Amino acid sequence: GRTLAIYTSGGDSQGMNSAVRSITRMAIYCGCKVYLIFEGYEGMIEGGDFIKEATWNTVSDIIQQGGTIIGSARSAAFRTREGRLKAAYNLLTRGIGRLVCIGGDGSLTGANQFRLDWTDLVKELLAGGQVTEAQAKKIPYIQIVGLVGSIDNDFCGTDMTIGTDSALQRIISSIDAVVATAQSHQRAFIIEVMGRHCGYLALVAALASEADFCFIPEWPAPENWRDVLCDKLSQMRSEGQRLNIVIVAEGAIDRDGKPITADDVKNAVKEKLKYDTRVTVLGHVQRGGAPSAFDRLLGCRMGAEAVFALMEMTETDEPCVISIDGNTMVRVPLLKCVERTQAVQKAMAEKDWTTAVMLRGRS
Ligand code: F6P
Repeated sequence: GRTLAIYTSGGDSQGMNSAVRSITRMAIYCGCKVYLIFEGYEGMIEGGDFIKEATWNTVSDIIQQGGTIIGSARSAAFRTREGRLKAAYNLLTRGIGRLVCIGGDGSLTGANQFRLDWTDLVKELLAGGQVTEAQAKKIPYIQIVGLVGSIDNDFCGTDMTIGTDSALQRIISSIDAVVATAQSHQRAFIIEVMGRHCGYLALVAALASEADFCFIPEWPAPENWRDVLCDKLSQMRSEGQRLNIVIVAEGAIDRDGKPITADDVKNAVKEKLKYDTRVTVLGHVQRGGAPSAFDRLLGCRMGAEAVFALMEMTETDEPCVISIDGNTMVRVPLLKCVERTQAVQKAMAEKDWTTAVMLRGRS
């Protein structure tokens, strides 16, 4: 049980490398053998060179890098039993019984399914003669700890996910740059930010950049949003402001659930106010680049706690997610968090925004 493996899965985020480094080093420090699995679940299924033992130095010089040095993938194969069987073979033959999954809710759900299937998968591998009795006996169960890496901050159960702070920094410095040119030309800028179905990045960026208006999925715009928006923008101009900044979350919608795009907003402003208006879509710039100090430390602290959790957990313990509660690292039940995160998505799809926002809270 002292052999663990680390993988990153789903979309990458800044600070994941810090977590990989911290888990690796804390585990080695505690006397564990550590493997890095490359390309997420795809690598776990492929085996071979995709699963490599890590040393203290393997993870040197990565804390300052964005992305994930061990690669990430969205794996369809792992959703099949056949894929999970191959993955089980690759873990059993290396004596890996502990996993740290750094990903989002989909990746963590996959990890839990794997854990539940484990006994059956091992039986099948034994019956087929692919693994020995000794190998099977060594790993009677697997245990999983999750860390949430996502710029969206869309996971229930933690105050912050790894990458959100860096994405915000990037958004804010981009908006500052846009403000300078907007001011010179007395323009309105519509800035689209990421966040899939979560308006956190848009809302916090709007607060921190002194934007005039913001569209987020959790607060669908009323039917007359064009009038409300233009009244506000022209009011700001009449008070002497030379520019306007409007932030649109990529998942922004109106009360009928119809998407509101940055172009829709631009067209409304041009039509009604005749302002010189431009759209800037920040895109993956928000997810790349160096992680902020906060995300580096978050990765470090969550990573260390993940190792402590794995070392203490027994067969009957429910898998957990390491989360930040205020300024403390805590362990929260993985399944509950995933269920709640999915309940938020369901409520949003059903246009029940009040429930979605209530559920999004941590506890
Ligand atoms: O979940 C992170 C995120 O960057 C979202 O904000 C965005 O909607 C999505 O991933 C983009 O996905 P992809 O990188 O696959 O285009």
